[in-house]
Amino acid sequence: METAGLQDRLEQHFKWFHEHPEPSNGEVETTARIRDILGEAGIETVAAPPDGGLKTGLVARIRGKAEKPVVALRCDIDALPITEESGLPYSSRNSGFMHACGHDFHTTSLLGAALLLNDERETLEGTVKLIFQPAEEGGGGAWQVLETGVLDDVSEIYGIHVASDQASGIIGISPGATHAGVGVFKIAIKGKGAHAAAPHHGRDPIVAAAQLINAAQIILSRTIDPFDQAVLSFTHVEAGTTWNVIPEEALLEGTFRAFTKEKLTWIAGRLEACCRGTAEAAGLAIDCDWRTYTPATNNDPALSEFAAETARSLGFPVAPVGRIMGGEDFALYQQRIPGVFWTIGVNSPHGTHHPGFIADRAQLSSSARLHAALARRSLERLRGKGTA
Ligand code: NI
Repeated sequence: METAGLQDRLEQHFKWFHEHPEPSNGEVETTARIRDILGEAGIETVAAPPDGGLKTGLVARIRGKAEKPVVALRCDIDALPITEESGLPYSSRNSGFMHACGHDFHTTSLLGAALLLNDERETLEGTVKLIFQPAEEGGGGAWQVLETGVLDDVSEIYGIHVASDQASGIIGISPGATHAGVGVFKIAIKGKGAHAAAPHHGRDPIVAAAQLINAAQIILSRTIDPFDQAVLSFTHVEAGTTWNVIPEEALLEGTFRAFTKEKLTWIAGRLEACCRGTAEAAGLAIDCDWRTYTPATNNDPALSEFAAETARSLGFPVAPVGRIMGGEDFALYQQRIPGVFWTIGVNSPHGTHHPGFIADRAQLSSSARLHAALARRSLERLRGKGTA
């Protein structure tokens, strides 16, 4: 397919996806649209609703000359609960929701790759699975896809994200971790209610909450190597209903992030210690519940080099990606399958998750071509190694 034709086609699709953002696990119309576009091109879908194990999202499959080896390309399809203020003529029609993280761009570029790979399937050295993943924004989408078992035969996986602050068309690839591992916590402080004028009759959970929040600040500032990157944020505080009653309970929630499992576990351990100490001092009970939500991304070094070389062979400028403390559930695939999470610059006036975010749609066909080249060349390499 010639590039100008592909670009025009993808722009039309992109505008539709941008106009129709849907929340995590609610991507019903989006999934139907993806399925229609693939269906028109004669591309089969597996793990598609209602029978494939996913409620939204789907996996498409393009079989080449051989069934194996298998490589996967992944995009995410969900939007955010943000009211759009981009001023684009094709702004969101779904009030209160917006594609503010570029997942419409990811979806469209992967559809472009599907069309390109389907055109050349007779010369493909194996099978490509294209993952249109639901619920990346905190809805467990990667787990849902992994649980279908559809990726059990996949040898390598590649995923895209737009880079809002990079110049258009720059491909970002770095080995190792680019997105932090994410921990979440919920702390329940169980005190004893009392009249506000008689605090000695109760056990004040609000004062304990305040002390705990302060005590926890010591974890990062005093127990983590200043050269390590980590963050701990309290994001939800709830207690009481009125001005003259000391309540029974307080609730705290938040997140902590770091680039290794050891560091995440360390932070959680210190947070538990802060809870125990505060509970002891305040004479009340504190429950600390935490878990790791996603690990850090982990780009395979050899495959990162391969991906960079593939991008350069198509004429793209390649630059390293700076680390961010944001999480990305692509990391869950990388725990099982070696892979690379790469970025493309889209030169937005605002960052992702901002109501004024705009992705440069001129980069759609470039992204599609890189997705397709990564799949084609990785199958050739795997075939050459005799791993099929
Ligand atoms: Ni995103």
